[in-house]
Amino acid sequence: MTIMLTERPSYKALQAHYQQIQQRHLRDIFEKDPARGERMNAEAAGLYLDYSKNRITEETLRLLSTLAEDCGLRERIDAMFRGDKINLTEKRSVLHTALRAPRGQSLAAAAVPDAGEPVHQVLDHMAEFATRLRAGEWWGHTGKPIRNIVNIGIGGSDLGPVMAYEALRHYSDRKLTFRFVSNVDGTDFTEATLDLAAEETLFIVASKTFTTLETLANAESARQWTLAALGDPAAVARHFVAVSTAAEEVAAFGIDTANMFGFWDWVGGRYSMDSAIGLSTMIAIGPDRFGEMLAGFHAMDEHFRTAPFERNLPVLMGLLTVWYNNFFGAQTVAVLPYDQYLKRFPAYLQQLTMESTGKSVTLDGEPITSYQTGPIFWGEPGTNGQHSFYQLLHQGTKLVPCDFIGFRHSLNPLGRHHDMLMANVFAQSKALAFGQAAPAGEPYRNFEGNRPSNTILAERLTPAILGALVALYEHSVFTQGVVWNINPFDQYGVQLGKVLAQEILPSLARNAPVPADDSSTVALLRRYRGLSA
Ligand code: F6P
Repeated sequence: MTIMLTERPSYKALQAHYQQIQQRHLRDIFEKDPARGERMNAEAAGLYLDYSKNRITEETLRLLSTLAEDCGLRERIDAMFRGDKINLTEKRSVLHTALRAPRGQSLAAAAVPDAGEPVHQVLDHMAEFATRLRAGEWWGHTGKPIRNIVNIGIGGSDLGPVMAYEALRHYSDRKLTFRFVSNVDGTDFTEATLDLAAEETLFIVASKTFTTLETLANAESARQWTLAALGDPAAVARHFVAVSTAAEEVAAFGIDTANMFGFWDWVGGRYSMDSAIGLSTMIAIGPDRFGEMLAGFHAMDEHFRTAPFERNLPVLMGLLTVWYNNFFGAQTVAVLPYDQYLKRFPAYLQQLTMESTGKSVTLDGEPITSYQTGPIFWGEPGTNGQHSFYQLLHQGTKLVPCDFIGFRHSLNPLGRHHDMLMANVFAQSKALAFGQAAPAGEPYRNFEGNRPSNTILAERLTPAILGALVALYEHSVFTQGVVWNINPFDQYGVQLGKVLAQEILPSLARNAPVPADDSSTVALLRRYRGLSA
């Protein structure tokens, strides 16, 4: 049995250290250590991380690093890359890193043969398909080239594709139209297809399991929509492709498995945007740029695997999250990208982080009662957020550590807009850290400061930088999971609601009996059905 986190001497040392440091203000910390801004930074895979505006000293970093060593982070990193079955509850390897390893260089290929050459065979298949489609050489049933691509998926089969599409839109083929349908709310499908011609539309049904109800319902509506316009059931073969690990289910749905792009059970849904789940991304930006994105992921993977903890970006960010979550009692982390193209990045991160670290049982099956696990991730692009929730960041009673993300160059230079944008990044992190005293008699103008942040800078938002950024957060989450001794790769917490929805669904039908249930559920069902009490 692994020792409980809070019993570890290295954790207790951090508790003692926290008592000493908690009252120290960043103003004072910077005054005593004026060069920390030049020192407390690290760089990898094109990302520069300034972590100097955190409520830490060199001693904090040393103690956090010791905690990570103590928790076996080094061994766990090696185990993941090697293909050990570290997803204990599902008895699976965790090998999203193999999806972006260059041909012939997968560290796991010996243990998990699928993680080697088959990865590249699927990439080749995707590239061949994407190239044909982008060249106008994938024709619909009536002979017209496909111009509209609709990705149907949810969770990891939606959030990665839609985030990457938005993030890399600058590089996308503007002759093609992309839509993303996830919600079982019929509005999503209806609005996404309202202005599309079926004869020019291709549906990518993306589902790891191919059993997800929302996705199957939307795929079925897509099939009906296609058939209503094109008549012939043979049209399905030209207008539907699937991305899945489940060939049988794909065939049962009626999609030709020659038009299926596979992946493997060792790719978690929220870690799958660089697998075949990224097919829409590849169609949008082309195989070469998709390859650049994979190279960016891989560069960060190699950094995470090999760099010493004190210079390791994901380790530093993961440990800082632990520091605020477990010692300062921070409940959330705000992710604030100063780039409009990253508008879906916080939503993407919500699944990556919270489906991974929202756990309350250790890897040994022990309930976690003495410490907190995953914080709530949230955010919006700057500068929009500044005119909305930043009030609370600056003057609220809650401590919210922030990650600012910005770029040296805009992809759309427009007058002085970019300098104005970036001036706000630097101003916000400065105001949060150092604050400003209120004029006498006006306490509501007080900026107490001492609010920590990281700033991540890169040259410009390229496919490679996006890959590096996503991998940075993936491995930061991994680091957190190791310290909290949880399994960040399962998601049993989503099951109960799914099962109950299946149980409730029949009783929503006209004339079905209202089941005996708790009084709240019965009252809600009656009201929904329009029945009297
Ligand atoms: O319900 C949660 C979940 O299992 C996610 O983990 C996953 O990304 C999503 O559903 C979609 O699953 P699938 O790709 O199998 O349709």
